[in-house]
Amino acid sequence: MSLLDRLPARRPSGVSARVDLAAQVGRVSLPNPVMTASGTAGHGAELGAYFELDALGALVVKSLSVMPWEGNPGPRVTPLPGAMMNSVGLQGPGVSGWIEHELPAVRRSGARLVVSLWGRTVEEYRDAAQALVDVQDDLIAVELNVSCPNLEDRRKMFAHSGSSVAEVLDATSMIEVPRWAKLSPNVSDIASIAGAAGDAGADAVTLTNTLLGLVLDPVTGQPVLGGGGGGVSGPAMRAVALRAVFDVSAAHPDLPVIGVGGIANATDVVQYLRAGASAVQVGTATFADPRATIRIITELDEWCRAHSVASVADLVRTAHSGGPQ
Ligand SMILES: Cc1cc2nc3c(=O)[nH]c(=O)nc-3n(C[C@H](O)[C@H](O)[C@H](O)COP(=O)(O)O)c2cc1C
Repeated sequence: MSLLDRLPARRPSGVSARVDLAAQVGRVSLPNPVMTASGTAGHGAELGAYFELDALGALVVKSLSVMPWEGNPGPRVTPLPGAMMNSVGLQGPGVSGWIEHELPAVRRSGARLVVSLWGRTVEEYRDAAQALVDVQDDLIAVELNVSCPNLEDRRKMFAHSGSSVAEVLDATSMIEVPRWAKLSPNVSDIASIAGAAGDAGADAVTLTNTLLGLVLDPVTGQPVLGGGGGGVSGPAMRAVALRAVFDVSAAHPDLPVIGVGGIANATDVVQYLRAGASAVQVGTATFADPRATIRIITELDEWCRAHSVASVADLVRTAHSGGPQ
């Protein structure tokens, strides 16, 4: 049975031609371009309660560090207009705990799997990658979440420095599956950071992580989230991440890009593909509807039929073929 046969049937009647949804991210082939975004789909097979996980382009699990990590005190999320802000603080079981407790269920689901890693020092990234080496045959890629404070560089995010991003890539080079560097939008020149990632061996860049934000209680003057500030995600940040995808794709046409930020429907996906993304990830939308990714895949198929697009790959980078920017 093909992937599309397993998706909810919401096709316009009388239309039979199949759309080719396949996506190519560098060396990685996906049956469709829609993945989950790290941190928004659990640590393992949790979303399998809602749909078959192998219907996704890929499942990206929450970022793991070499050690178990408690994360930040609550409250951890707060709503914003058209967005949310979180300060989960990268809670997780650590790579070894994840291999023992979460990987078996993901294996059984048949999902194409991407593991995201984080660290506070270059050594921690190295150790996390080393701990993952034995199971890398289970993975289609490793995403390096470099949007974390670097304890060795005045807590400046790794992703705020091209050389720090390059050091993380050097330290994780024992990973043989493709490595994707997930960058922060809070930089003045994201194309140069992406270029540094590509030069250091990243097979792709994931654009972007959340925007830095802050919400204060007006009475106490204290942050409403237990961790202080947080990361803003959801539709309100989509234009920012889309711009990052466009700018990086313009500057580095040969560096594969994965777009993420505020995607809630097929037309959002189409914008990201046209801006230069080969594939996308869906995060915040999954909190409102755990089936959001699957709905978006079905809608993308419908959108392509309605607009006579035979293959989603034909949409990639079409915004770069001229016109005002
Ligand atoms: C609650 C929450 C937790 C997140 N945790 C992670 C994480 O562990 N690793 C990571 O790389 N990104 C994490 N992110 C960022 C998302 O993967 C994504 O880049 C961002 O939310 C933008 O996409 P969206 O607007 O579709 O949510 C998290 C986002 C949210 C909302």
